[in-house]
Amino acid sequence: MRLRHISLLAAAIPTVFCDSFNSLQHSGPASPYFDAPSQDGIPSDTPTGCNVDQAAYIVRHGARYPEPGSFTGWQNLFVKFQNNSYTAKGPLAFIPSWVPPVDDIPHEPLFLSATGALEALTLGVDLRKRYQFTKGGENITVWSAAQQRVLDTATFFTRGYLSQGNYLTAPSSNRGTIISLADSVNFTFADSLTPSTGCPLYSTGDTGSASATVFRATYQDKIAARLNKFLDGLTLTASDIGVMQDLCGFQAEVDGDTRFCDVFEDSEWLDYEYAHDLNYYYGSGPGNPFSATVGFPWVKAISDLFVLGPGQTTPGGNITPPALIMGFTHDNNLPPVISALGLWNTSRVPGVYPLSHTTPNPLHQFRASYLVAFRGYVALERLACSATRDTEETVHVAGAPPANVSTSKYIRVRVDRAPVAIPGCTSGPGSTCPLAQFTTYIDETRAAAAGDFVQRCGLQNVANATGEATFLTVAPPDIQEILVGLN
Ligand SMILES: *[C@@H]1O[C@H](CO)[C@@H](O)[C@H](O)[C@H]1NC(C)=O
Ligand SMILES: *[C@@H]1O[C@H](CO)[C@@H](O)[C@H](O)[C@H]1NC(C)=O
Ligand SMILES: *[C@@H]1O[C@H](CO)[C@@H](O)[C@H](O)[C@H]1NC(C)=O
Ligand SMILES: *[C@@H]1O[C@H](CO)[C@@H](O)[C@H](O)[C@H]1NC(C)=O
Ligand SMILES: *[C@@H]1O[C@H](CO)[C@@H](O)[C@H](O)[C@H]1NC(C)=O
Ligand SMILES: *[C@@H]1O[C@H](CO)[C@@H](O)[C@H](O)[C@H]1NC(C)=O
Repeated sequence: MRLRHISLLAAAIPTVFCDSFNSLQHSGPASPYFDAPSQDGIPSDTPTGCNVDQAAYIVRHGARYPEPGSFTGWQNLFVKFQNNSYTAKGPLAFIPSWVPPVDDIPHEPLFLSATGALEALTLGVDLRKRYQFTKGGENITVWSAAQQRVLDTATFFTRGYLSQGNYLTAPSSNRGTIISLADSVNFTFADSLTPSTGCPLYSTGDTGSASATVFRATYQDKIAARLNKFLDGLTLTASDIGVMQDLCGFQAEVDGDTRFCDVFEDSEWLDYEYAHDLNYYYGSGPGNPFSATVGFPWVKAISDLFVLGPGQTTPGGNITPPALIMGFTHDNNLPPVISALGLWNTSRVPGVYPLSHTTPNPLHQFRASYLVAFRGYVALERLACSATRDTEETVHVAGAPPANVSTSKYIRVRVDRAPVAIPGCTSGPGSTCPLAQFTTYIDETRAAAAGDFVQRCGLQNVANATGEATFLTVAPPDIQEILVGLN
């Protein structure tokens, strides 16, 4: 059932296990990027006879060093391992020699690691090749929330995207522009790549960290008891286990040391992963009643741009977005997009959703590791498919113009590359959703589930509150533009 898709990038991270279980693909938000396995049996390739003519991505930043709070946990673990006298055996024999993988404290915690930079660069290279939207020398504009690690992800993406040819002597060609938007503020409302902080009531619906804490209490003590048998003179606690499991992904990303990955058993990784699933499902995903509200404005903006088609802007727009519409943000702004699209919250099998607080159902597709791994993304693609796509023979007459690609348009969602079916709308090639049906689904079904941003978020009395994301077509007043070139 669990397939491994090793991308070029995943190959850059040392593989810990020879068998099919890889803890780095079960580490939730600490996982390095990997292509999520196929869901619903949909093949990952673009269906024969179709080509993508427009695409939109909302992307988490690449792998980073720890946040200050978790870094304190690493430092405390180091002090505990250093300032006690004890004997450590078996899987823990290495702990007296372990040092936290941060060697320049003022400049590392919070910021991208080299792995994160590579993840972003690789995405730029991959999408340039995959879609072939950009002719040599053309510019690209992308959008990014303004925290440094997110901007750096946008920058490395853009460098990867532009990394072909030689434009040294053509400084007005092959340039990238990053439109930087205020990050995690409460005054840009829905017109933002971090709308979760623009909705005051959103945090009241968040029961994610409490759910995760309760679930962690069911397994961390058991793991500590198992590991304490390898220690004489030192006792690991439940919270030490949390730090040590986080260190598997983080340290693999910083310096390739995977010794903490080897300490835990497969079932212990699945419990660790599920705690993250609960955290995101009930925190920022479908289990938070304000999640769809917060994710909807971006989805609606993209749906409208897909109706117009590439190279078009909305009435009153002063920016024409490129065919590839890139937005860079933080982990917590991806689950709201899943909610707005109505994904991963229903199942043909009863009892999968809402996620159980106590008992993981192996059929649940809402998995943090498949969504908010570092540089994880939700993407929407517009496909143009030829009516004759199923024929096995085509005839070309010398001198005739290239055959018309038909005008039938379909929509596909991809999450960390895996195509994900839109509930009730899979009649197109490769289980895609016909564009007209998609827009009805968004404008009616999902708009009703999301509700009005201003009303639901309790912003009725805020004079300038807006429930629309217009930043892709109307330049906000306070944006900062950053020019990226290769030299
Ligand atoms: C160990 O404890 C001593 C004194 O209690 C302290 O000076 C030292 O910094 C500690 N070592 C570490 C690694 O924290
Ligand atoms: C590309 O960007 C450069 C640098 O900003 C600018 O001079 C040039 O006009 C842009 N080209 C196009 C076609 O927009
Ligand atoms: C934004 O946050 C500030 C500071 O916490 C607060 O005073 C203000 O009321 C908030 N605005 C909205 C619209 O919630
Ligand atoms: C709304 O008003 C606040 C306070 O005057 C301001 O900081 C903010 O930029 C405004 N937001 C928008 C979207 O105009
Ligand atoms: C998810 O499903 C639950 C019922 O299981 C429902 O209450 C909730 O509104 C759904 N969330 C979204 C975003 O559609
Ligand atoms: C093919 O495209 C051309 C130019 O867009 C158009 O004039 C023509 O009618 C199309 N032919 C068919 C068979 O669709």
